[in-house]
Amino acid sequence: MSAPETTAIVVGASSGLGRALATALAREGYAQLLVASDRRDLDALGASLDLEHGTTVRSLALDLAREADPGARIASTLDGMPPASVLLLPIGYSRDDDDLSLDAGAIGQLLAVNLHAPLAIAHALLPRLVATHGVVVLFGSVAATRGRGRNVVYAGAKRALVSLYESLRQRYRNAELRVQLYELGFMATNLTYGMKLPLPAVAPDVVARTIVRRLRSGSSRRYLPRWWALVAMLVRCMPWFVYRRMKG
Ligand SMILES: NC(=O)c1ccc[n+]([C@@H]2O[C@H](COP(=O)([O-])OP(=O)(O)OC[C@H]3O[C@@H](n4cnc5c(N)ncnc54)[C@H](OP(=O)(O)O)[C@@H]3O)[C@@H](O)[C@H]2O)c1
Repeated sequence: MSAPETTAIVVGASSGLGRALATALAREGYAQLLVASDRRDLDALGASLDLEHGTTVRSLALDLAREADPGARIASTLDGMPPASVLLLPIGYSRDDDDLSLDAGAIGQLLAVNLHAPLAIAHALLPRLVATHGVVVLFGSVAATRGRGRNVVYAGAKRALVSLYESLRQRYRNAELRVQLYELGFMATNLTYGMKLPLPAVAPDVVARTIVRRLRSGSSRRYLPRWWALVAMLVRCMPWFVYRRMKG
């Protein structure tokens, strides 16, 4: 185990991919700040990581659907911890009825969690991450490959994260700040629980291991698992008259 004397922040750490990332980061010796809405889940995870790996873990419970300034809350919780060098944003919230029938409040909540939170947190933590030549890791979705009548707001927010990725890369050189965007295929987590999926879902810990292994690599945008790149290309190339007849 290497001992990076720095802190990794995991937003959306209480379940699925975030939880798997926290576990993989603990094995690497990172101190961690774990963020999610449920304090009990975070405290239980923090205690088990501390017990198993002896790493410093702090947790912060925030409802990101309602929190106006999550970046400031995270920045103040980092005081006294080792310098922050890794920001992972595997946060996600989707709804079955995100099919052009949502009211304004529900649209606002989806945007708050999937777009406002990553933007606001990344903005607030940039000075600290640049100071350590750190890395920001963003999580898109294959749901945003091409607009359709389902996951309308969720996919819109995920598409906007591609723009954030480009903005950060345009603003910072690799030596100042690295930016990684993973466009994720289906994973077996709460987000897909009970859904009929057209293609197989991978285990989040397999995905997490790849992401943590690549933390010291340069900026990049890639599909994970990699074979989703081919699926996405086929979906994008499909003639409109065929695509618009597809179900779902
Ligand atoms: N699963 C898939 O098939 C799939 C596919 C493509 C992309 N993705 C993306 O992959 C990332 C990880 O997703 P996942 O499958 O691991 O999802 P997940 O198991 O549902 O975990 C989502 C995390 O986000 C947190 N979260 C949700 N709403 C929140 C809120 N209002 N305030 C604070 N925290 C909140 C949850 O914490 P609480 O439970 O405490 O609220 C949880 O820790 C997300 O960006 C997702 O969009 C997933």
